[in-house]
Amino acid sequence: MSQRFPVASVEDVPVGTGAEIVAGGRIIALFNVDGTFHAVDGVCAHAGGPVGKGELNGCIVTCPWHGWQYDVSTGRHCLTDNIAQQSFPAEVEDGMVYVELPDS
Ligand code: FES
Repeated sequence: MSQRFPVASVEDVPVGTGAEIVAGGRIIALFNVDGTFHAVDGVCAHAGGPVGKGELNGCIVTCPWHGWQYDVSTGRHCLTDNIAQQSFPAEVEDGMVYVELPDS
């Protein structure tokens, strides 16, 4: 089962930026890549850094703590397939971004 959460208005996360949000008791990193929103686990797999506060270049975010990079469209680490942030479906409806999270 999963639940859908309204997490931000479209204007809150301009193109080329990200945001750290809390939904369903989880920290989520939300990104706007050319108008398409992507959501991944906001807690970095390396040491818990704030992925949502990282710099976004195209679809690649760089964790601000130690520089691990992830593709926000898949959650995958850029250097290895063995590491990935969990990714979640995100969609826009009536100017609001919704993220679907599995029940915990
Ligand atoms: S905590 Fe993200 S790179 Fe270290």
